[in-house]
Amino acid sequence: MVFPNLPSAAVTAVALLSTFSNALPAGLMSQVKRSDSLKFAFGSEKVRGVNLGGWFVLEPWITPSIFEATPDNVVDEYTLCQTLGATTAKNRLESHWSSFIQEGDFSEMKDFGINMVRIPIGYWSVSPLSGDPYVQGAYTFLGEALDWANAQGIKVMIDLHGAPGSQNGFDNSGRRGSIGWTQGNTVAQTITALNKIRDDHASHPAVAAIELVNEPMGPSLDMDTVRQFYMNGWGNLENSNVAVTFHDAFEGVNAWNDWGSGMWNLLLDTHHYEVFDAGSLQLSVGEHVSTACGFGGAMATNNKWTIAGEWTGAMTDCAQWLNGRGIGARYDGTYSVSGQGSSYIGDCAGKYQGTVAGLGLADHNNIKTFISAQISAFEKADGWIFWTWKNEAAPEWHFQNLTQAGLVPQPLSSASGC
Ligand SMILES: *[C@@H]1O[C@H](CO)[C@@H](O)[C@H](O)[C@H]1NC(C)=O
Repeated sequence: MVFPNLPSAAVTAVALLSTFSNALPAGLMSQVKRSDSLKFAFGSEKVRGVNLGGWFVLEPWITPSIFEATPDNVVDEYTLCQTLGATTAKNRLESHWSSFIQEGDFSEMKDFGINMVRIPIGYWSVSPLSGDPYVQGAYTFLGEALDWANAQGIKVMIDLHGAPGSQNGFDNSGRRGSIGWTQGNTVAQTITALNKIRDDHASHPAVAAIELVNEPMGPSLDMDTVRQFYMNGWGNLENSNVAVTFHDAFEGVNAWNDWGSGMWNLLLDTHHYEVFDAGSLQLSVGEHVSTACGFGGAMATNNKWTIAGEWTGAMTDCAQWLNGRGIGARYDGTYSVSGQGSSYIGDCAGKYQGTVAGLGLADHNNIKTFISAQISAFEKADGWIFWTWKNEAAPEWHFQNLTQAGLVPQPLSSASGC
């Protein structure tokens, strides 16, 4: 077998595996799921996690207050930094990084039964590229967060959420618009950032997983390039005692079973949302639940550890700017992006924007039912990480407040519905 571009240690390991795989297929195949050297017992212990979304990679809908003070063409962290300029942007972001999540959040997570946090970070915070407007400083706070998590016995997945050029064109990659990742030197630059994360943090006692890149847009990318990047990224991490986490690249939750032979400690991250297409938005609560249950069942048939690394209590896309600043909601027919419209399904006004405390009784009960069912669905496989721990004005997406208000089962092991 030839794996071009793999580091020599990985080539040796793959060669050894292929040499012995005929003699010992069962034993070696079980190394595809192998937790003895890891800091979290993936496969036997369920991941019960929250994302720290909007902390080190801004999203207008998570912290609208940062964006409301800027012109309409500021739609992501890239344009925010470009428009404010380095000094102002750095001041604004330093005050956000030091206040949005604090040490006390981790003890509350612990009280809620959370055993993992997924922390998105952009390449520009780790290994900046000249010419970018982004400002640096988040990486220092990441280091602090690892210690806060560790003090509570919570494990961390460091998630490279923004890759050079943008791997998906979403605002949450740092830069909304076109997909430039895989062009030019961007893959090599991504590997440079991942290797720095490995060298700085992989040996930290809290760091149980590193995700190679969040949500690469498989249908728009050359998947051979994505798979080669995953293989090289794995090769660089294989001796680091972290679960090498890779997103399904929107290829489907069951699309990766034939890939990854000869690699171990792979963790497949699939994201489950039922709010980003008209069909899902029209489902009844019962249909939302059965969709999630079916998805959890599909996750559980995979040959690799599989988690739902993002999911939500939302059954609408009504949260302000969820689809991007200046883009409306499909649910109430106000969505508009390059000529695509949407048809009215229901009213967003007041219902899904504001606070958890402000939800009406019916929404409160429906969201509670949906969250419990999803937890039970994803725990048919290897667990889940909710998107997101907190935000300013999107109640269905606010794990902290939803839990305080009794909409998340406590203890988490009491979840039911699938
Ligand atoms: C979350 O709870 C805090 C504290 O009660 C409150 O100030 C905030 O508005 C709430 N946010 C949401 C989205 O529920």
